[in-house]
Amino acid sequence: DQLPDLLVVGSGFFGLTIAERCAADLGLKVRILERRSHLGGNAYSEREEQTGIEVHRYGAHLFHTSNATVWEYVNRFTAFTGYQHRVYSTHRGQVYPLPINLGTINQFFDAAYSPAEARALIAEQAAELGGKEPENFVEKGVSLIGRPLYEAFIAHYTAKQWQTDPEKLSADIISRLPVRYTYDNRYFNDTYEGLPVDGYTAWLERMADHPNIEVVLDTDFFTVAEQYKGRVPIVYTGPVDEYFGYAEGRLAWRTLDFEEEVVDVEDFQGCPVMNYPDPEVPYTRIHEFKHFHPERDHARAGEKTVIMREYSRFAEEGDEPYYPVNTPEDRATLLKYRDLAKAEPMVLFGGRLGTYQYLDMHMAIASALSMFENRLRPHFRDGAALT
Ligand code: FAD
Ligand code: NA
Repeated sequence: DQLPDLLVVGSGFFGLTIAERCAADLGLKVRILERRSHLGGNAYSEREEQTGIEVHRYGAHLFHTSNATVWEYVNRFTAFTGYQHRVYSTHRGQVYPLPINLGTINQFFDAAYSPAEARALIAEQAAELGGKEPENFVEKGVSLIGRPLYEAFIAHYTAKQWQTDPEKLSADIISRLPVRYTYDNRYFNDTYEGLPVDGYTAWLERMADHPNIEVVLDTDFFTVAEQYKGRVPIVYTGPVDEYFGYAEGRLAWRTLDFEEEVVDVEDFQGCPVMNYPDPEVPYTRIHEFKHFHPERDHARAGEKTVIMREYSRFAEEGDEPYYPVNTPEDRATLLKYRDLAKAEPMVLFGGRLGTYQYLDMHMAIASALSMFENRLRPHFRDGAALT
């Protein structure tokens, strides 16, 4: 078995970007190992069998960025639709627009406030603590948007996300809660936004479609590590604690459970994402995938639609790690792993799992492009050490 010039562990956006750049720009032979039976990491999607509707297997993925370099790069592999993300919230039998904006405020308070009036009202409600430093999540939330809106849209939603009483959550989970004093309910503020015209998987496959790139599926790096370690440079995008055999302990993650259902109606909820912030509802939100692609012909789905209820909880062994919990203990543990990672010869750690941080797709791609320019190109071009 001939060794490649570079081994990439993990075929998510981080690993694919590294592989594509090294193969196309430096002419290197790159092998990607992926332990799942498909490439693409968490952005992977597939067509639901009965309806042909594209379903994002690991949760809804919305692409958005203000980084012109990333936007130029991703457009080499896919065109994007004009999709703009908008989210609604069902609270006590009424539907409100999110993020909290003038429309939400006026509906909630049954009023017709001007932007200045709404601003003054929220400032007055947020002053409840009288300048006292917020000591937990609840006080922080109230100090940002006032108690009524906090309790309606944030308190129970967050409790469901964390399965933890918000009084016991740290204030630094939130640094800001966006309130807009206009009727603008576009979810993202970024310059560029859209969904891949032919779906995520076509995009991800095109990134790997290069004669110098070999993708090996169903293969866990740890079962073959000895063939590669110390012999070829490795870019590792799996969990950093797993790489070191959990020697410094486990980093904590939240996971999600997805309950997919094909429903016998043409349109279930009239929008892509509906939040459920009330405590009686066990899930946090429902996705309806048809609405991510209003431009597509969904005739084959007929009187059917695909929905996915999302539930959130702490990850246990064997669960998919989705969001870093990031307690002070986790951050202390991470520092130890960072030292180990730095000292590990010929291995670079990247991506959301390899660095234990939440990364949007555009951030994972930007971070991979920077590792390519700052570490890999100098190594392969000029023989710079790879530490
Ligand atoms: P991943 O996509 O996780 O890829 C890592 C890959 O490594 C996986 O395929 C894994 O199987 C593989 N791997 C791990 N260990 C091994 C091993 N030992 N051997 C072989 N293979 C291994 N971003 C957005 O921009 N917009 C969104 O709306 C959005 N929504 C999200 C929703 C959820 C629920 C989650 C979790 C993430 C979301 N993201 C979103 C983020 C997006 O998924 C990430 O930015 C992207 O997945 C990062 O890519 P990555 O390559 O770092 O990691
Ligand atoms: Na290293």
